[in-house]
This record gives sequence, C-alpha cells and structure tokens, in this order.
Amino acid sequence: MRQTFTKVVIIGTGYVGLTTGVCLAYLGNQVACVDSNAAVIRQLRQGEVPVAEPGIAALMQQNPANLYFTTALAEVLNGSDIVIIAVGTPAKPNGATDMSYLEAVAREIGAHLTDGKKQLIVNKSTVPVGSARRVKTIIDYMLLERGIDCEYSVAANPEFLQEGAAVFNTLYPDRIVVGAEDEAAVGLLHQLYSPVLNQTFTPPAHLPRPRNYQLPAFITTNPASAELIKYASNAFLATKISFINEIAGLAEKVGADIKEVALGVGLDTRVGRRYLEAGIGWGGSCFGKDLKSIINDAGQYGYSMNVLQAALEANTRQRYVVIEKLQQELKVIRGSIIGILGLAFKPGTADLRDAPSVDIIAKLLELGARVKVYDPLAMPAFQEQHGELEVEYCQDVLTLSKNCDALILVTEWSEFSAVPWETAGAGMRRRVFIDGRNLFDARTLQIHGFAYHGIGRS
Ligand code: NAD
Ligand code: UGA
Repeated sequence: MRQTFTKVVIIGTGYVGLTTGVCLAYLGNQVACVDSNAAVIRQLRQGEVPVAEPGIAALMQQNPANLYFTTALAEVLNGSDIVIIAVGTPAKPNGATDMSYLEAVAREIGAHLTDGKKQLIVNKSTVPVGSARRVKTIIDYMLLERGIDCEYSVAANPEFLQEGAAVFNTLYPDRIVVGAEDEAAVGLLHQLYSPVLNQTFTPPAHLPRPRNYQLPAFITTNPASAELIKYASNAFLATKISFINEIAGLAEKVGADIKEVALGVGLDTRVGRRYLEAGIGWGGSCFGKDLKSIINDAGQYGYSMNVLQAALEANTRQRYVVIEKLQQELKVIRGSIIGILGLAFKPGTADLRDAPSVDIIAKLLELGARVKVYDPLAMPAFQEQHGELEVEYCQDVLTLSKNCDALILVTEWSEFSAVPWETAGAGMRRRVFIDGRNLFDARTLQIHGFAYHGIGRS
C-alpha cells in the first residue's frame, strides 16, 4: 500500500460518490464524505450502505479510520487537497440537465473556501460541456463577494462505472479521464489514482484482479473534451444497443437469428461483442437522461444529433415489441392474465429508474390485462414508486405463473434459468412465453409446451 495519502472530500454519497470515497479510503487516502441528506449520513456512520451496490460494505469495513461521514461541508473543506463533486444531474422534463444540485454545491464551496492552501475541485458528476467553467464562475463570484482571494482550480473527471459493478469498475477501470487546464491538477489526480493506474494495491479478497486485466489508460484533455467523452461514451453504448435491436427486427422478418448475427458482427475487433445483446432495450438512470441531455445541448447550438435522436426513439419503440408479440399469440389482450418476470432495469439491482418494465406494465393495464409480477429484489421499490400501477405481487415464479395466459421475461435474472418450466406451465391457462431478453433457447420452453417468442429470432 502507498505511504503518502491525499486528503479527499467527496460531495454526494450516492452510487458514484460513495463508491469513489470508499475505494479511495481503501487505497490509503483520508476521505471525508459529505451528503446533504442527514438520514444517509446517519446510516453510513452506523456502517450501513444506503445504495444496493455489492462490495461497498466489505470495503468500508477494511479501513474505517480513513473514512469520515458528515453533512457539514464547511467542517472538512479547508485543509483538504482534492474536493470531488458527485451529486445527481437528473434530466428536466424538456431533456435539459438539471444543474441545481451541482450549482448548489459550487455556491457552498464558494461560501466556505478560505485563502489557505491551493485546492483542486473535481467534477465527477455527468454534466454538459462547460460545467467545469460554470462551477468556477460561481465559486469566483462567491469569493469576490466575500472579498477572499483564493487559489484553486476546477477539473473534470467523469465516471464510467456500471451499477452492480461499481467497486470493481473503480479498482479496475479501462481508462481514467482528466480534463484540466493546469499541470498541477493533472499531477495531483495522477498521484491520487496512481495505485489504480499501476495496480500497486492489494486487491480486496472479494474482488481479485482479473487475470487478463491491462493497466488503465490515463487520458488528459481540456475540460470540454472530458465532459463530452462521458456523454459520447453513454450515447455510443446506447446507440450500439438500439442498433442491434433494429437489426433484430429485420432478422425476424428475413429468417435470421440475432444471436448469430451479433456474434458474427461482434467478432470483428473493430466492433466488439459487448452491448450487442438484443432485447426490450436499455433502461437505467443514465442512458436515457444523458442521450436527452446531449441532444438538448446540441440543439442550443443549432445542431441536431440525428443518430442519437433515432437511437432514443428506437429504444422507446423497442419496449413495446413484447406486447406486439403477445397480441400475435393471444389476439385479444383484454381479460388476459400476464405474468411479468423481472422489474429492475437490469439484473443484480432493485433500481427501477427508466426501467422498461414500467412502460410495459402500464401498457398492458391500459389494454385491459390483469398483471402479476415477480422480481427477486425490486418489488418493494416498484410498490413504493409505482403504486398507481395495480399489479399482483408474487413471491416466486410458480405463484406468478399460476392461471396466467402468458409470461413476459423483462429482466434476465439468472434464477429464471433454474425454474422448473414444466411445473410452471402446468399451472397456466395458456402457455405463451415472450422472452424479452433472449435468456432461453426456444427449445428449452417448447419441450414443455410453450409457444416461445424471443427478440430477433425466427
Ligand atoms: P445519486 O442520486 O445516487 O447520489 C447523489 C447524492 O448527492 C445523493 O445522496 C444526494 O443526497 C447528494 N446531494 C445532492 N445535493 C447535495 C449537496 N448540495 N450537498 C451534498 N450532497 C448532495 O447519484 P449517482 O447515481 O451517484 O450519480 C451522481 C452523478 O454521477 C450523476 O451525474 C450521474 O449521471 C453520474 N454517474 C452515475 C453513474 C451510476 O451508475 N449511477 C455512473 C456514472 C456517472
Ligand atoms: C451505464 C454505462 O454502462 C456506464 O459505463 C455508465 O457509467 C453508466 O451507465 C452511467 O453513466 O450511469 P448502467 O446504467 O449501470 O451503466 O447500466 P448498463 O449495465 O450499461 O446497462 C444499461 C441498460 O442496457 C440495461 O437496461 C441493460 O439491460 C441494457 N443492455 C445492456 C442491453 O439491452 N443490451 C446489452 O447488450 C447491454
């Protein structure tokens, strides 16, 4: 482990802030995590992790002396070396990014910064191009008002972690991107990340270093490029999925199989195999909001992002493909009983932000179906956040399938592969299976008498 340490303040202890804080503490830095939500800080002080992210709890216990949790930024701001901002940047109804949390943080920094040692403010939230400069403008204005002349700089350091693999992605990233205007900022962040860049830390027992892991790239750019790299990355991944979903639609018409097509295309190393899984489309907290944000920002410059707009629209349409398939089988959906397998936007999480399940269930209810649901993690969250959708919650797949006319698989939880489908099918009124994630081969269900429909598979 490294001998030198950096005093880091993290503002916002959600998925990104908490993961970053806990990992930096594990790497030997002194980390103060600040969140304006007092309940979250109370939980963290008791050693409880408020986000459903595997691996954080285990890491938190390893170096507790390096971690401090507080609601008071003023208490920890001055004297720190690096301040990392990781607050939410949700989409407004018109698609623009809601900058209010980030701006509030900038104002708070400006209100409390003193003229002590030079500090580096780092923005890790996903933000429109120009936000690093916006943060600096706000802080400068506050300092001017207070009559304080303070040396500090603002850098962009976007985050690429995936929910469910946040700690893994932080310790073993593909790249670290730093957008800064001064050499000192780049040097400080390079030093902060050096255990990860050189993989000199001892891996946690529960997260060994992957065998073929290659050292991450350290990319330095100006702040605008760093901010755009983040949006472009999410936009590319979302577009790649929309692309394969569109090809899947054609595959069905021409008698091709999308799994074979995706393999054949993805084996070209210029394309790559990942993010070519066809299905009901992408969801989650970021792809949708980031696509809308980049489209909106471009619009403000009079520039239209035609490809990204199409990727967004294709994704919305894709969610209803399973309902078209259902209608082909049942003809009339009104009066039918439909079982939904999985609610979360992807397996391994209870997160329902922009989850396709919500749109699919709302449509089924609108069409007059009765809807039963099962998800191993996300049912309490669904009940809390979407109580207006009247569904029947089931404790397992066998209870779910009872009396159903059809099942729609929305989230590819691995436990669905172990379901005794013969038994499940025996309790159903009709055996129709719409596999929205291509989890199964048709034969697996057909041998138990199901009419099976995947996505892009004839
Ligand atoms: P989150 O909503 O889980 O957490 C944000 C936290 O910030 C909350 O706990 C909130 O209480 C706190 N906060 C808000 N205003 C504050 C203030 N003024 N002072 C202190 N704390 C404040 O958000 P997240 O998922 O961690 O995302 C944070 C940012 O990172 C977003 O811009 C997001 O787009 C980006 N991002 C998220 C992911 C992901 O997988 N979740 C991945 C990469 C990037
Ligand atoms: C995504 C990105 O993968 C992260 O790099 C990024 O940091 C993050 O957004 C963010 O900015 O918040 P995440 O939202 O956790 O991470 O979700 P992913 O695992 O990427 O999956 C997104 C959606 O795409 C899921 O609904 C998943 O089911 C779907 N997907 C994924 C497909 O439909 N097909 C695929 O081949 C891959």
